[in-house]
Amino acid sequence: DVIDVRPLTGKGLFTYDPGFVSTAACESKITYIDGANGILLHGGYPIEQLAEKSDYLEVCYLLLNGELPNAEEKAKFVNTISNHTMVHEQLSQFFKGFRRDAHPMAIMCGVVGALSAFYHDSLDINDPHHREVCAYRLIAKMPTLAAMCYKYSIGQPFMYPQNNLSYGANFLRMMFGTPCSEYEVNPVLARAMDRIFILHADHEQNASTSTVRLAGSSGANPFACIAAGIAALWGPAHGGANEAVLNMLDEIGDEANIPEFIEKAKDPNDPFRLMGFGHRVYRNFDPRAKVMKKTCDEVLALLGIENDPQLKIAKRLEQIALEDEYFVARKLYPNVDFYSGIILKAIGIPTNMFTVIFALSRTIGWISHWNEFHSSPNKIGRPRQLYTGATQRDYPA
Ligand code: ACO
Repeated sequence: DVIDVRPLTGKGLFTYDPGFVSTAACESKITYIDGANGILLHGGYPIEQLAEKSDYLEVCYLLLNGELPNAEEKAKFVNTISNHTMVHEQLSQFFKGFRRDAHPMAIMCGVVGALSAFYHDSLDINDPHHREVCAYRLIAKMPTLAAMCYKYSIGQPFMYPQNNLSYGANFLRMMFGTPCSEYEVNPVLARAMDRIFILHADHEQNASTSTVRLAGSSGANPFACIAAGIAALWGPAHGGANEAVLNMLDEIGDEANIPEFIEKAKDPNDPFRLMGFGHRVYRNFDPRAKVMKKTCDEVLALLGIENDPQLKIAKRLEQIALEDEYFVARKLYPNVDFYSGIILKAIGIPTNMFTVIFALSRTIGWISHWNEFHSSPNKIGRPRQLYTGATQRDYPA
């Protein structure tokens, strides 16, 4: 049931809803989630079908425009994105201000925010075309910036994008190629990468998307808003979970230790949680996790590493948790991040880059919501609070 409290607010009534568990802050046409039945639709299309039949750039087009492109529209879109893949050469100097061992998400907050310095004066957020170009720039430049973070951390030269490659293949080449040798992208890995991008592309009003929408509601520069989204995503309760899952599987180390970790997760006095488990909205299963698990099996089999010890621990952990009364009663299931790290690791992506991949993929969701906000009559976001501090008192004499 939907209760619209707007008419009441004038009379001084408001709702108190910590964590926005049941408060809608906006209307949106982009993504539909039915948490009870494990349904996720983008523009009406089920995520399972998009992951199977579509590709990331097509999903980007869908999220931005509400419709799948025809062949001509798609070719034009792919070409436009290709034309924006390079970043300003001065930005490479910016990287050098960071410590080599800085977490790549810290660098991403900085460099994506820094794009606002390159695209501010000429940007009119009330012009639909300007907003569109802004989305193109972000979709195109995020893989370049993400790969630059990695190259910087290992002291290798930055790789320029190669625009005749697919989006996923271009990213892998910028990550793992070097200017002094040919790098042939494995098509299986490029497709797996593309699927990971699709599965993370949008998820309606999660913490990072709400952050982007709220920051955008003040009319702030969109590149700075996306940097705010990256910051919100970084936490382990949100996008940082994919990195935390692999660290947890490492810590478990052996199937024999799983029960000990399950008990820790159930202990109300222990802050430890099973990373990659549970979701605010999904109370049945996360449909993205199902596709991710299948992709994980396929990719590892194709690479001939189906006996990966972490995959075995992950599957056993899932099995034990799903039979445990604690997890059943609380409807806690693996989420999208439970298996994504295993695939990313198999592709050769280092653990501290996992959340960067999530940020890269989610950028289209963030900018689509930002664009939707500015495309319709809107209001600055301004949550209220329930004050629990001291009552009025006099400053000590
Ligand atoms: N392990 C153990 N117990 C858990 C877990 C978990 N992963 N998740 C929730 N619970 C328990 C809580 O302790 C609580 O138990 P209680 O009722 O006895 O107090 C109950 O389940 C409900 O949990 P909440 O924290 O109220 O659920 P909420 O909707 O606020 O949190 C969240 C959702 C943050 C995803 C949570 O499940 C979690 O921390 N999971 C682990 C981190 C993770 O995987 N995050 C990625 C989310 S998906 C994404 O962002 C892409």
